[in-house]
Amino acid sequence: MICLTLSGSTLSDDLRAVKENREYIDMCELRLDFLTEDEQKRASIFPSLVDLPVILTFRRLQDGGCLNISEKSRRAILVSALDGDFKYVDIEEDVKRSEVEDKAREKGVRIIRSLHDFEKVPEDIYSKLYHLSEKGDIAKVAVTPRSFQDVFTLFRVEEELKGVDKIVIGMGEYGVATRILYKKLGSMLTFASSNEVAPGQISAKELKLEYRADHVNDRTAIYGIIGNPVLHSASPRMHNRGFKAINFNAIYVPFLVDSVRSFFMFAEYMKIRGFSVTVPFKVDVLSYLGNVTREVKQIGSCNTVVRVPGMWKGINTDYYGFIKPIMADIDSGRIKTALVIGAGGASHAIVWALRNYGVKVTILNRTLSRAETIARINLCDYDSIENASRYEGSVDLIVQTTSVGLYPEVDQNPIEAFHFSGNEIVYDIIYKPKMTKLLSEAEKAGCKLHYGSEMLLEQGKLQFEAFTGYHYPHWVDSGLE
Ligand code: ATR
Repeated sequence: MICLTLSGSTLSDDLRAVKENREYIDMCELRLDFLTEDEQKRASIFPSLVDLPVILTFRRLQDGGCLNISEKSRRAILVSALDGDFKYVDIEEDVKRSEVEDKAREKGVRIIRSLHDFEKVPEDIYSKLYHLSEKGDIAKVAVTPRSFQDVFTLFRVEEELKGVDKIVIGMGEYGVATRILYKKLGSMLTFASSNEVAPGQISAKELKLEYRADHVNDRTAIYGIIGNPVLHSASPRMHNRGFKAINFNAIYVPFLVDSVRSFFMFAEYMKIRGFSVTVPFKVDVLSYLGNVTREVKQIGSCNTVVRVPGMWKGINTDYYGFIKPIMADIDSGRIKTALVIGAGGASHAIVWALRNYGVKVTILNRTLSRAETIARINLCDYDSIENASRYEGSVDLIVQTTSVGLYPEVDQNPIEAFHFSGNEIVYDIIYKPKMTKLLSEAEKAGCKLHYGSEMLLEQGKLQFEAFTGYHYPHWVDSGLE
């Protein structure tokens, strides 16, 4: 179930939020601590105004609530609200037996016994959950993973506490995967917001339409992307839309990771079928792979990992994703020479791809030694980025691989002094923004342009094939263009 947390200051604000999100949610949680005093007094009518089950909650300040009020008054407001037809009431784990609990039991309102920790995942989380559930209540823990190992701990809850009615939420950025894969944790529900208001929160619309989190079942295959940062990756949208279009029972999740080792242990445990790899782990994953393709071996980095019998296999779809949009121009002989700006990981894959197709390459970089290293391996020339102007009029293709010009520094261009003749094909692998400063100057000179989004889409399509065995459905809007 997807549960919308209601944080309006009036009941009509909350009603509006329910209406706006109605098609994405199965229940809602009325947070009394956000309501004004007058509205709190009217809260009992709320369940009769909506057509879904409502959780009644009055969060204390120490548990993340937003109202400083005496415990006695808080309970009195809860008791009065319980006149309404709430399905559940949330009572914190350390609250002794009270009139709230008595009234709830008398009325058959199920109690959610909750524990919050904004600092960490408590060490004895499994026994804590068990104790919360002892009286037949629904045990709820909302805790804060500080590492990927903590996330793994939360995913093991289901095996440790099978058959216990529970709600398990990992808060903060590491917790995002637990909110999306709540069903795999055995959590009865996941909380969603109207829109993404805090780090780690996901909107109800995103959970329902993009992730289809409520469709996850025992047979749903898990895929994902590991990186740090990773939460703004466009890949989940692309892959989840593709899975949906071909009726493939799978979900693709962003995993914020701090340790590749923890992630591989998790991936074994959860039987993950495959995952994308982004900055800064494209080299770190290599030592966990039992099989790699020639590209991975020669480029020294891997952006896609898939499960094959008994081991993990690494492939690199970046290089092919890069080359595909310019392949026709290479085949026709239009591109024979190239300048590659930058000498990082991305540059290495690109230089390798160009050399593989016989293009003569010169690498320009701020730090000459890094350009030299890639140039030696790939048998090409190199120079300092300051000398870019020397190559004016003599290259067919210019590829920009540095982070210069990337959002938010959109007014920067790594080869400011370079004059385009208009005959160059200019390819910037940055995709945010689509039109970088370099590209807009090249466009003014009449150059043919290629965008980072083309590379992203092509490498993603290949990953999709590696994951599913099917082509990416051509009729789907991948969200990348
Ligand atoms: P990636 O894996 O995305 O290629 P990387 O390995 O960190 O990332 O490489 C970053 C590239 O951007 C390098 O070529 C870097 O130049 P240096 O090798 O001199 O560091 C380049 N780069 C980053 N910031 C730059 C800047 N302000 N000016 C010029 N080049 C820059």
